[in-house]
Amino acid sequence: MILVTGGAGYIGSHTVINLINAGEKIVIFDSLENGHIEIVQALQKIGDVKFEKGDLRNIDDIDKVFSKYDIEAVVHFAAFALVGESVENPAKYYRNNTFGTLNLLDTMVKYNCKKIVFSSTCATYGNPQYVPVDEKHPQAPISPYGTSKLMVEMIMKDYDKAYGLKSIKLRYFNVAGCDKNCRVGEWHEPETHLIPNIVKSTFGEGKVFKIFGDDYNTPDGTCIRDYVNVEDLAEAHRLALEYLRKENKSNEFNLGTEQGDSVKTIFKACEKVLDKKIEVEITARRDGDAEALYANANKVKTTLGWKPLRTIEDSITTAYKWEEKLQTLL
Ligand SMILES: NC(=O)c1ccc[n+]([C@@H]2O[C@H](COP(=O)([O-])OP(=O)(O)OC[C@H]3O[C@@H](n4cnc5c(N)ncnc54)[C@H](O)[C@@H]3O)[C@@H](O)[C@H]2O)c1
Repeated sequence: MILVTGGAGYIGSHTVINLINAGEKIVIFDSLENGHIEIVQALQKIGDVKFEKGDLRNIDDIDKVFSKYDIEAVVHFAAFALVGESVENPAKYYRNNTFGTLNLLDTMVKYNCKKIVFSSTCATYGNPQYVPVDEKHPQAPISPYGTSKLMVEMIMKDYDKAYGLKSIKLRYFNVAGCDKNCRVGEWHEPETHLIPNIVKSTFGEGKVFKIFGDDYNTPDGTCIRDYVNVEDLAEAHRLALEYLRKENKSNEFNLGTEQGDSVKTIFKACEKVLDKKIEVEITARRDGDAEALYANANKVKTTLGWKPLRTIEDSITTAYKWEEKLQTLL
């Protein structure tokens, strides 16, 4: 059985669908603090998915899951992921993302479960010294969120040496889009990601999409990021599990498309795909936004055989369809 922490959230739920399709049996562990029971119920309609509500910060909660099920491997998404909030309240991030993960790893060691796939982030690199960013780029996070994830990566290296716990750290760039059948989707409150925010601005009166700064040193003055589709990303987790089973080795991979798109490019793509004129306002830069950040994903392509199959248009289309559905759930 595969334990998926944070499986009631955005990326976790898409990965659960991918793993169900691959014939895996799943148990989701989620506090539902930011996840949704409706997402769990949607997943239970698709396949054999057990759900255990609990919090990683409470080691007894996670211990109970390991004593109840025979867990072969863990795919670990559960975390808080708001960069700005982590600057205001670092304790919340270190307690949950770092200490919570330590509880999980210690429980894995206790129950002799030795394989984990971990949601890391390009935020562990900090301000890029060069782009595209490869895995050898120095890791110097500029937010407590990034540091909380880098600390986990470091702990995992030590747990491999000491206890033989093998880990794959997947450093995601910007994740976008939803399940093409809209069974699950991106449901963040608040939503801080670009595409859902552009899409949301088209629902309801008076919602204006904001661009934070158009005076960056980029061709159109707006920040450049790498948008990877969530269904493609989900597939990388399946491949990472396969790698752990076959190779029994720890490793780390960037997950991005290697294509940098500016905020204005994405905005125009949304107008085109949705065939709508979208209202936009240019405001001041946000603190801590790097000018350009996109991946060199050569390592994941050659080692895991992963490649992105979906386009940015796919991500925009599915994000919009999901938003239509979400409007009826709220
Ligand atoms: N979304 C992105 O673009 C992105 C980019 C890079 C990395 N990541 C990482 O990917 C992972 C998933 O991100 P997401 O966007 O799906 O987030 P999400 O908030 O949608 O999902 C996270 C889930 O974890 C659960 N959770 C949080 N803390 C918990 C705890 N202590 N115990 C049990 N459950 C807990 C939440 O309830 C939620 O369902 C996170 O680790 C995030 O840091 C996301």
